[in-house]
Amino acid sequence: MSLSPAEALRLYLPECTPVLQTQAEAFAPSNIALCKYWGKRQAALNLPVNSSLSISLGELGTRTRLQVIDAPSDEVWLNGQQLDADSRFVRKVSQFIDLFRSLTPARFRVTTHNNIPTAAGLASSASGFAALTLALAGIYAIPRDGRSLSRIARMGSGSASRSLFCGFAQWHKGELDDGSDSFAEVLSEAWPDLRIGVVEITTAEKSVDSRAGMTRTTDSCLLYEKWPQQAARDLQTLRQAIAAQDFTLLGETAEHNALSMHATMIASWPPLLYWQPASIEAMQQVWQCRAQGIEVYFTMDAGPNIKLLFQQHSIEAVRACFPTMTVVDPWHGPDPLQG
Ligand code: ADP
Ligand code: DP6
Ligand code: CO
Repeated sequence: MSLSPAEALRLYLPECTPVLQTQAEAFAPSNIALCKYWGKRQAALNLPVNSSLSISLGELGTRTRLQVIDAPSDEVWLNGQQLDADSRFVRKVSQFIDLFRSLTPARFRVTTHNNIPTAAGLASSASGFAALTLALAGIYAIPRDGRSLSRIARMGSGSASRSLFCGFAQWHKGELDDGSDSFAEVLSEAWPDLRIGVVEITTAEKSVDSRAGMTRTTDSCLLYEKWPQQAARDLQTLRQAIAAQDFTLLGETAEHNALSMHATMIASWPPLLYWQPASIEAMQQVWQCRAQGIEVYFTMDAGPNIKLLFQQHSIEAVRACFPTMTVVDPWHGPDPLQG
């Protein structure tokens, strides 16, 4: 029989005696998957069908502060505004904190800031639940052990398991029903020249969130049968590309992986098309750039925004094509496990 999330938390915690502190604060970067997580094999503990690999977004992400309050329920403030206690956002945050409340009960004021758009396909759930996990580790005096906290953050949002690290992170899907072998780890390789360009198409919240989109795909898309094979192959190729610092192989594999995931979304029912006309224009522009010899590739998550992959020495050529892009240096930003 599989564990409940609260039982899993106790299993995942590092050796420690949780002691309630009055306040804590943490930052976690968002991350962009080069090999995507798409599909769950077990929903309660958020165990994925496939392993995935990402790169962190430097200073772009979430800062979250927790304060113990004397109140009947949690208070949640997002980007300076208090959220309705009945909102899905607050319910998800409170449910996640409930896991820790089984250690020592307390109510919190949660003050969180995203410097990326929320729920627009720029992985706010990744930085959001990673920062919340780190802040809760501070409140309960739990050591900042990457493997333990990654397993815990995973239960908030799968992609959050990869947001506790700077640089490349690989989330091992694991095999066990208790999820203890499903966590992310940082890769030892750096790639100082690698840059991400965020091309914002719209900051509007998507109408189908990643979680619902994933379920719809696994429930209704026959093409999805092939996805685990594609993901396993791409992950292996990306590891080779990173080891050899082969940018062409990295870019081609990431772009192919993203489009393969979107193919399963489009072939779901009802169809899931996260693209806007401007997303397609941006993709075509990337292909035109490459035809002119500018080495740039794209990836996209469950949303219309585009993330470009290029190297520092191509920055001016890429900026000429995408003047509005925000450039991210993945190696420039706070280390979430240290800060
Ligand atoms: P995204 O592409 O932004 O990750 P998702 O649909 O995966 O979109 O997740 C959006 C959800 O992530 C929000 O509705 C909310 O539940 C959660 N989330 C976003 N930001 C935060 C935050 N700062 N703290 C806690 N949860 C957050
Ligand atoms: C397309 O981690 O947001 O961005 O685990 O249900 O919270 P939940 O989903 P989430 O899914 C991310 C999907 C993706 C690909 C990826 O980040 O790997
Ligand atoms: Co998300």
